Amino acid sequence: MKQHPKISSSILSANFASLGKEIADVTQAGADSIHIDVMDGHFVPNITLGPQVIRAIRPYSPLPFDVHLMINNVDSYLEFFAAAGADRLIVHPEAEPHIHRILQRIKKLGKKAGVALNPATSPRAIEYLINEIDYILIMTVNPGFGGQSFISQQLEKIKVVRSIVGTQPIEIAVDGGVTLENSQQIIEAGASTLVAGTSIFNDLGYENNIRRLRGEIA
Ligand code: DX5
Ligand code: ZN
Repeated sequence: MKQHPKISSSILSANFASLGKEIADVTQAGADSIHIDVMDGHFVPNITLGPQVIRAIRPYSPLPFDVHLMINNVDSYLEFFAAAGADRLIVHPEAEPHIHRILQRIKKLGKKAGVALNPATSPRAIEYLINEIDYILIMTVNPGFGGQSFISQQLEKIKVVRSIVGTQPIEIAVDGGVTLENSQQIIEAGASTLVAGTSIFNDLGYENNIRRLRGEIA
């Protein structure tokens, strides 16, 4: 039986001049969550947006806001992102030596805790954190930019993460280079959520793109 993944729209590829409308449109088009890439120019070589923008766009969608924090010194900013309207706060262990404590702090703030794994990071990084994790984001590009090519070696990592997670209610999301060509392989490897930017925010129509990625239509 064909499995249908959840679709998370990465707004990095949206039109930033009309971000509120873009988020409303992609919500209307059937996305399951909104993926928001926060970059600080240190942890990754790009700068995007902060809590103030998240607060401004919050009213445009009732969907969960997944805030992907590609920043150093994450501990100092968790409260601000939580207050701005994040539902899930996703952090990189590569940016933070005390990731276990960070995950506990996210829970204390009343938010879901996510861990993102860079392409070079072992899937075993989650093993001793698993009781604190609600969401795992497997990076299939090096974080920093939209529109990059999927690193197919990461398919193996998705399988390992699935074997660690088993049937526990932890979402396994894949972020970077997700297209109609590779979506089925990603799902078969064990992902439950596809994060997509350029495959959604293009002229082919958001609803059409989301439904095709989900495998609802050909
Ligand atoms: C990359 C970001 C991704 C990015 C994905 O650093 O974490 O969320 O927006 O974009 P696409 O889908 O275009 O690869
Ligand atoms: Zn992301």
